[in-house]
Amino acid sequence: MNWEELLKPILISGKEVLPLIEGGKGIAATDGMCSGAWAAAGGVGTFSGVNAHIPGMEDLALLTSYPSKVRIKRHAEMIERAIKGGIAQARIAYETACHQGRIHMNVLWEMGDMEEILNGILSKVKGMIHGVTSGAGLPFRLAEICAKHNVKYYPIVSSTRAFNILWRRAYHRLSEWLGGVVYEDPWLAGGHNGLSTDEDETKREAPKPRLKSLRAYMRSVGISDRLPIFIAGGIWCLSEWTDCFDNPDLGTVAFQFGTRPLLTQESPIPLSWKKKLLTIKKGDVALNRFSPTGFPSSAVQNAFLKDLQARLERQIPFSRAATPLYVLPLKGKMGTFFLRPEDELRIQAWEKAGFSVPLETPSETLVFVTPAQYEEIKEDCALCVGCLSSCRFSGWNCDTTEPALAPDPRSFCIQKSLQAIVIQGETEQAIMFCGHEGYRFAQDPFYANGFIPTVKELVGRIRQGL
Ligand SMILES: Cc1cc2nc3c(=O)[nH]c(=O)nc-3n(C[C@H](O)[C@H](O)[C@H](O)COP(=O)(O)O)c2cc1C
Ligand code: SF4
Repeated sequence: MNWEELLKPILISGKEVLPLIEGGKGIAATDGMCSGAWAAAGGVGTFSGVNAHIPGMEDLALLTSYPSKVRIKRHAEMIERAIKGGIAQARIAYETACHQGRIHMNVLWEMGDMEEILNGILSKVKGMIHGVTSGAGLPFRLAEICAKHNVKYYPIVSSTRAFNILWRRAYHRLSEWLGGVVYEDPWLAGGHNGLSTDEDETKREAPKPRLKSLRAYMRSVGISDRLPIFIAGGIWCLSEWTDCFDNPDLGTVAFQFGTRPLLTQESPIPLSWKKKLLTIKKGDVALNRFSPTGFPSSAVQNAFLKDLQARLERQIPFSRAATPLYVLPLKGKMGTFFLRPEDELRIQAWEKAGFSVPLETPSETLVFVTPAQYEEIKEDCALCVGCLSSCRFSGWNCDTTEPALAPDPRSFCIQKSLQAIVIQGETEQAIMFCGHEGYRFAQDPFYANGFIPTVKELVGRIRQGL
């Protein structure tokens, strides 16, 4: 196989580069340094613009210290920091890339006040960032904002239907700024996943027919075959994807890696996270539905997720008033609840095991937690900075014209959890996003004896199809 020939450079964000991309990973799991290194190796590096770290402020105490007791003021401060951090990481990426490759920035469309943050960063990094990728939700306004700042936009979608909606509602008017479309496999990719409500998480569909359908739709609306589709999710080595090269059904394609580049010298994640990656076994990564964004996500089934799963199982229906069905009164921190007699024994067992605090959920159920968990939930809600446009966990909603949401103790503060893993290296008591091919670190001889390659070495390996 002539890999040089197969992996020929393609036009991405205005430059001929290798069709190899490191996907953006928040919070701060891809930064200016690693994305710059990926670009320097000839591909496209994507740093995360989701609360990107301001150099020198990576300390957890500093990151979580917000002077104001009022959430809306903390939110304003968070926006200011996110803009400063994004600008700083863009500069680092630009300087590290030494004019090689391309630099993209990733933003989560459902971030709180996304548009202000994106405009704030893009207005100060002219010529340093060449494209913006965005998923989780339908980023209709992405095209307009990117066009205003002269950068290409790359929606991340997991189905033709999602791209169809984006195209018809917004993108057809600004097609010249569309740089490509990222197709992310909703069953395999690490991080948040775009599974739609009618897709079964246990029935994975093969990517090729879905890619073919996406390209067919793109053609039908006049998008050139030269515009690349970035294939993302479940890619380990390209020798397993040879039928995507020069495939007339797919047009131009590039390959986006997320999980594999977590393990490089330049990757900013702590050593404990890198070491943990080398121990993942098949089946350790699974889809879950605990994220406060409301999207499913793929992560390692560690103690943190098992705890949330167990919380879900310590759940019973209740009524606020006594009814023939709900007769047992129970006094809790949130008032008196009436329960079904048949739940009494389960509640007693939970109380005996320490899960003595009933908390109300928005689904008219109670979940039982320990007093310590209750204090943590209360504290996390109190410290919320409104990092998301709306948050299932704290009930925060950026849109103040909408009614407040009821907080859900079955979810968690994702900002705190992602900071815990990326700063403190906490891989058990925090969400550890990972793609479903993560188990291959432990099997691939490239990583034997705990070898951690540089980005250049990893890109070199990928270029050999390995
Ligand atoms: C730890 C981690 C964090 C991620 N965070 C984001 C993110 O913030 N935004 C995003 O669009 N994609 C995110 N992703 C997805 C990657 O950009 C990439 O598309 C995906 O990981 C590719 O699939 P793979 O994990 O099978 O390689 C994340 C992936 C991982 C593993
Ligand atoms: S509670 Fe929700 S909105 Fe608030 S900081 Fe945490 S994740 Fe963000």
